[in-house]
Amino acid sequence: MNFTDRVKRVEPSATFAIVARAKEIKEKGERVINFAAGEPDFDTPDFIKKKAITAIKENRTKYTPVSGIKELKEGIVHKFKSDNNLNYNPSQILVSTGAKQCLYNFFQAVCQKGDEVIIPSPYWVSYPEIVKLCSATPVIVPTQKDNNFKIDLSSFDSYLSAKTKVIILNSPANPSGAVYSFSELNKIADIAVKRHINIISDEIYEKLIYGKPHISVASLSADAYKLTVVINGVSKAYAMTGWRIGYAAGNKEIIAKMSVVQSHSTSCPNSIAQYAALAALNNNDYPQEILSEFKKRRDYAVDRLREIGISYIKPEGAFYVFCELNSKLDSKAFALRLLEKEAVAVVPGVAFGKENWIRISFAASLEDIEEGMKRLGRFIS
Ligand SMILES: Cc1ncc(COP(=O)(O)O)c(C=O)c1O
Repeated sequence: MNFTDRVKRVEPSATFAIVARAKEIKEKGERVINFAAGEPDFDTPDFIKKKAITAIKENRTKYTPVSGIKELKEGIVHKFKSDNNLNYNPSQILVSTGAKQCLYNFFQAVCQKGDEVIIPSPYWVSYPEIVKLCSATPVIVPTQKDNNFKIDLSSFDSYLSAKTKVIILNSPANPSGAVYSFSELNKIADIAVKRHINIISDEIYEKLIYGKPHISVASLSADAYKLTVVINGVSKAYAMTGWRIGYAAGNKEIIAKMSVVQSHSTSCPNSIAQYAALAALNNNDYPQEILSEFKKRRDYAVDRLREIGISYIKPEGAFYVFCELNSKLDSKAFALRLLEKEAVAVVPGVAFGKENWIRISFAASLEDIEEGMKRLGRFIS
């Protein structure tokens, strides 16, 4: 079979081997400590599930408008106003099958062969592959641990060209947990405005932030607002990864074209899940409860890492600690060996474009974090 050039350029997931092997070990009855999870370990709260059950009973089971039900889009408009001081109207909102589909729709609508997309590294695994799938070119901008893996503005210009069409920002970030400040975002927005570059601002971890305020780059100026498409969703803040609801907000014309892409792929997001997402967005207290639990875990995890002598970037948001390896093994070999020897699953840094680092997820119980750190300490010593 002659596959397309664009699909041939896409890398298979570097985490697949780890996850598959972890499953095998678990099936043999061994206690696997899962530090590889990209989702909260909590159950979706009952108040959300109840709304979904009601939606089923009320037969909300048909296709919905492509871009989402009116009530949910209005709820999202309200969320942006109250959380981010951003004014949108419902025609500027698209609800999709997860934040990931929002990103996919955006790149299919906006980028093509010859366009360049700026991706700071370490990055979330899907960014470069989504860019390759629209035949555009990912331009990877390395960042340094001394700068908490945030863009170094002194050299940033050298990665930009006349072909640069989009900059991807992700704050709070996966995998580093970095959170951009007001002044850092302002400087990036200035560059984007001056050069007329679009910004994708992936704010999916907005609610999981430990102390700093979350700032949406779109809120910084009228020009930044025009150039930015904000991506968010309910997956992480409300423990709803499987419901698959994400949303995008931005320029009306871009949103309309993203909806066209969606209309010919998934038609609309799941009807029941949209009602569930509406219940979630109407409750701002729940993410606060999750947040305090995650903060406890983060503090515990970094204390233990310090004790066992692993250096890390203290995460300011999300639920991952990015850790530096002091090992002869590359990150994938390290992760596989750790899994075989100690039954601890982590994600190798190479998946995020950063060799010699691993990502530890603290979306696990305190008991599991304690046990996992004990095993990790034994493994490295
Ligand atoms: C940075 C980032 N963006 C987007 C997503 C996708 O979220 P969703 O489940 O809404 O598709 C993830 C999920 O891991 C993520 O880490």
